[in-house]
Amino acid sequence: MNAAELRKKFIDFFVSKGHVEIKSAPLVPENDPTVLFTTAGMHPLVPYLLGMPHPAGKRLVDYQKCVRTNDIEEVGDNVHLTFFEMLGNWSIGDYFKETAIKNSFEFLTSSEWLGIPLSKLAFTVFKGDNDAPFDQEAYDLWTSLGVSPNRIAKLPKEDNWWGPAGTTGPCGPDTEMFYWSGEGPAPEVFDPNDKNWVEIWNDVFMQYNKKEDGTFEKLAHPNIDTGMGFERVVAVLEGKKTCYDTELFQPIFDVLFQMENKPLTAEKTRSERIIADHVRTATFIMAEGITPGNKDQQYLLRRIVRRMLGEGHKLNLPAGFMLPLAEKVIDFYHAHYPELEQNRAAILAAFEAEEKDFSRILIKGIQMFEKAIANPQNIQNGVLSGAVVFDLSQTYGYPKEMTVAMAKEKGLDVDMAGYEAAFKHHQDLSRGESAPCGLADHKEETTALHTATHLLHQALRQVLGTHVEQRGSHITAERLRFDFSHPEKVSPEDLKKVEDIVNKVIQEDLPVVCEEMSLDDAKKTSAIGLFANKYGDRVTVYSIGNFSKEICAGPHVTHTGVLKSFRIMKEESSSKGVRRIKATIGFVENK
Ligand code: ALA
Repeated sequence: MNAAELRKKFIDFFVSKGHVEIKSAPLVPENDPTVLFTTAGMHPLVPYLLGMPHPAGKRLVDYQKCVRTNDIEEVGDNVHLTFFEMLGNWSIGDYFKETAIKNSFEFLTSSEWLGIPLSKLAFTVFKGDNDAPFDQEAYDLWTSLGVSPNRIAKLPKEDNWWGPAGTTGPCGPDTEMFYWSGEGPAPEVFDPNDKNWVEIWNDVFMQYNKKEDGTFEKLAHPNIDTGMGFERVVAVLEGKKTCYDTELFQPIFDVLFQMENKPLTAEKTRSERIIADHVRTATFIMAEGITPGNKDQQYLLRRIVRRMLGEGHKLNLPAGFMLPLAEKVIDFYHAHYPELEQNRAAILAAFEAEEKDFSRILIKGIQMFEKAIANPQNIQNGVLSGAVVFDLSQTYGYPKEMTVAMAKEKGLDVDMAGYEAAFKHHQDLSRGESAPCGLADHKEETTALHTATHLLHQALRQVLGTHVEQRGSHITAERLRFDFSHPEKVSPEDLKKVEDIVNKVIQEDLPVVCEEMSLDDAKKTSAIGLFANKYGDRVTVYSIGNFSKEICAGPHVTHTGVLKSFRIMKEESSSKGVRRIKATIGFVENK
């Protein structure tokens, strides 16, 4: 079975069980400032898992693009990836444990679907603790389906509990499904520590909401959230040891090996794997209009691209090597993610521009390295201070691996513990600066700022023209940030007009009304909204008096007076043809 068939089978199976297919949400969460990227299929669905009705109904299925960078240093081993897809299905206050487990069992074992022999499968269930009891029900369900008790492990929270995605929110015990990838028949008794057992699917029984004080309250309507790691399942179904050996990566390696004049069947090195992983991640991020830069998502993208360039440098790859690799990613995925094809030229241009920038940094980095090692304070007993490595990476963007390699050439070791300490110190500081301002923690502020975003959008269209369209939105507890298409700087006079319009609407205290309707009807009402087809056929439209009408998943305040006032703090360029406004509201400032 190939990747495309697996994707189709998963969707078809759950559609046959009454689920509605929804589209993959963007990688950059629209209104959740707690994280930079969408990290799991459930992530864009949090408001619905907490009780808001989803326009597409109570049973959903999708494939979701995800980025996780917390293990970025591990990439290159057998299992870690920074970009992956998650196949998921949800019951939002509809069916619960029994149907979820029976569905998973049928999809995995039935010859009509994946047809995996039960002898190759094992399961884990939650063992129980002070917060929640042993999951007897899940255990009994698996055995009633014919699973041997020898193949069910009872594990604690670290293994069999999922969520919340941030610090608070929906979560619960889960049951995980494992596949035997080792040689020969699987052992009778399941040992979860044996790495030949690969986790392929997770069914989460979302029964609780973790609150700020750390306690768990029962959700009024429990949900099912499942996640199947697409790359992993493709690997096991293809009988491959790692994701890198599957058809998902092969086209990238083929081009890479050609550039290196290596036989196409040669073993893949760690550097090559890093490049193959990172090119997928960077291409998908760029497809959402993000270019490398110094903050937030842009910074992570920059790190990823520069790491690729560093690895490419080690392998003596030719200038421009990233472009044909990115083209392979676009070619392979565009049928499922049309934004890749739509942005092909911009993606390639972004790789090219970053490579140019980085070559200047390489020259500067080498100069700074020479300067640093000329200072005896930085070297003790042949060991280079880790702070130097960190500083070169932090201040000049010079990759850690390259500094270490240069040190080696000079016969120097590097104090990696010192590097880690400097890195951790910085991480703690930057966490402190941006924490914690999530939708869950400051719901009122982010909700009010979200409504302000709609007002700003409409006011910009009135003042500048209807070519103004949303290109991005990011909300923290303190401010909104709105990116929109517009070819030139907005004059101070126009900014003042925009501000005045929004303030007038706030003073008029217009009602905010939410209606659910079909996408076609929403279009007929001429509601604006770029992400119009995200939720399938049924959408929600938020109207603010007669002033603004926008397709949006919410949430919003109920009347504009709540905002108190509106103030633009900054207008600047975001990227070519895109302007950025940061603004705030009296509701937040006077708190
Ligand atoms: N949200 C669950 C996971 O990511 C399904 O594993």
